[in-house]
Amino acid sequence: MEVKIALETTPFTFRPETAVFFSFEENLNKTLSFFDSKLQLIVKNKIQKHQFEGKEDEIITIETAGKYQLLMLVGAGKVKEFNLAKFKRLLMIVLSKISLMKYSSVGLFYFDELSKDFFNIGKSLSLASYLSNYHFDKFKGEKEKKKINRLKELVFYIKNKADVVKITEGVAFGKLIADGLYLTRNLVNEPASHIHPETLEQAAFDIEKESKGKIKVEVLDEDECRRLGMGAFLGVGQGSDRKPKFIILKYQKSKIKNPSFVPLSGTSKGRQNDKSKIKNICLIGKSITFDSGGLSLKSSEGMETMKIDMAGGAVVLGVFKILAHLNQDQYKLTTDIYGILPACENMPSGKAIKPGDVLQALNGKTIEVLNTDAEGRVVLADALSYAEKYIKPETIIDLATLTGACMVALGTEITGMFGNNKELNEEFKKSSTEEGEELWELPLYQPYKKKIKSDVADIKNAGGGRFGGAITAALFLQEFVERAKWIHLDIAGSAYQKGATGWGVTSIINYIFKNNEN
Ligand code: BES
Ligand code: ZN
Ligand code: ZN
Repeated sequence: MEVKIALETTPFTFRPETAVFFSFEENLNKTLSFFDSKLQLIVKNKIQKHQFEGKEDEIITIETAGKYQLLMLVGAGKVKEFNLAKFKRLLMIVLSKISLMKYSSVGLFYFDELSKDFFNIGKSLSLASYLSNYHFDKFKGEKEKKKINRLKELVFYIKNKADVVKITEGVAFGKLIADGLYLTRNLVNEPASHIHPETLEQAAFDIEKESKGKIKVEVLDEDECRRLGMGAFLGVGQGSDRKPKFIILKYQKSKIKNPSFVPLSGTSKGRQNDKSKIKNICLIGKSITFDSGGLSLKSSEGMETMKIDMAGGAVVLGVFKILAHLNQDQYKLTTDIYGILPACENMPSGKAIKPGDVLQALNGKTIEVLNTDAEGRVVLADALSYAEKYIKPETIIDLATLTGACMVALGTEITGMFGNNKELNEEFKKSSTEEGEELWELPLYQPYKKKIKSDVADIKNAGGGRFGGAITAALFLQEFVERAKWIHLDIAGSAYQKGATGWGVTSIINYIFKNNEN
């Protein structure tokens, strides 16, 4: 796939097989000015026949239309409500449709309603192109594989040569993000018998290598975790034949080559210089490589998609893949970025934890495990505690396929967001809205804490009843957050729809860049 920029000069020659035009409700006829009188007539007839009004998501297609083998009119809704997130979403739908129709090249013209933000126009163009080409087809037969058509080129026609530079930069940045998203999606789509904690460890080391010194990875093995007192994380993993891996990544910001952090060693005392103004953020991703439920075994149906239970970790790896390839001269980040993947498998066995067991987390709190299927919050307890004790970041964002309850509440397109800091919540919401990743804030309603009070330990991981399950899970996590501004993203629904979505990668990258000092 290639995204090309071309000047729309006179006389104009159009080469791609297909052409896409966005039409708005207020000025449907504007599009017609692109066509000669013969084609105008054809398009007008088609518009009337299909009662096309330019409403969002309306699409009409016309084959063999003049110099275009295929012409597509896309309803873009009202001009006032249009933005780049909508553009990206609509373009993705249109490009998928075009490749399903077996065409391989597309032409698209700049239109004023797109804004003058040429960098982000370029970014949207390439994200839409690469993502619409994504198919997880490695297990399909050769014949089936061949049936999947992928677009080869998208040509974007612009009026001013001066805009080429910004658009091209944006296109390259979009490709970088798409590469990260491809990694995330591939890891999530891969069957659980191919992805183990050590697979994620390897993926992290690959990223470290690709980063050429920008990213450092450290992995704590079982013994090291035990030494640090991560009883919660180890408890969840102990039923599996696969060894748990506590994976830590660190991106060094561009300006300071030797930051005053010594966070990656278990013996570290954390931040060495508490008064330092270094901005830093820690991303934590739930990384259960398979969630069978443990002894509180899931139903067959409930287990079908549980290879996705490491989606949070895969998003963190996707973000680091992007950081690894970032040109530090071009994009100067003023933030230190950490990633944590507490990776293990939740399996039943003679060694597995049993309902009623009590585990002690790294921060000293004890957890009564009443349901071994509520394992996500238990591993995150240690990941959050580790971040607070050894990294002490200003901000923590965790991503977790945490609760079926969140899925019941918001469906599969919307992420549930919880947070302990209003400003951070708003900023993150803005970042995700700009990317077209949907989220909805849910309350950290403190009175529900009584639902997770334990009779025998500090807190229990389940047993408070089914209602408000996403909230009680978030309240559980909050017990392990001490000083950080924190956001918890429950991606149980949004991580997967037929295939992995990679929900979170673009929002987090956008958040990091928006909050960059430069
Ligand atoms: N990984 C699941 C949550 C999940 C469900 C993710 C469906 C994606 C799709 C999690 O570990 C889990 O099993 N949660 C339980 C908690 C309950 C036992 C308190 C749930 O939501 O049912
Ligand atoms: Zn579970
Ligand atoms: Zn789970």
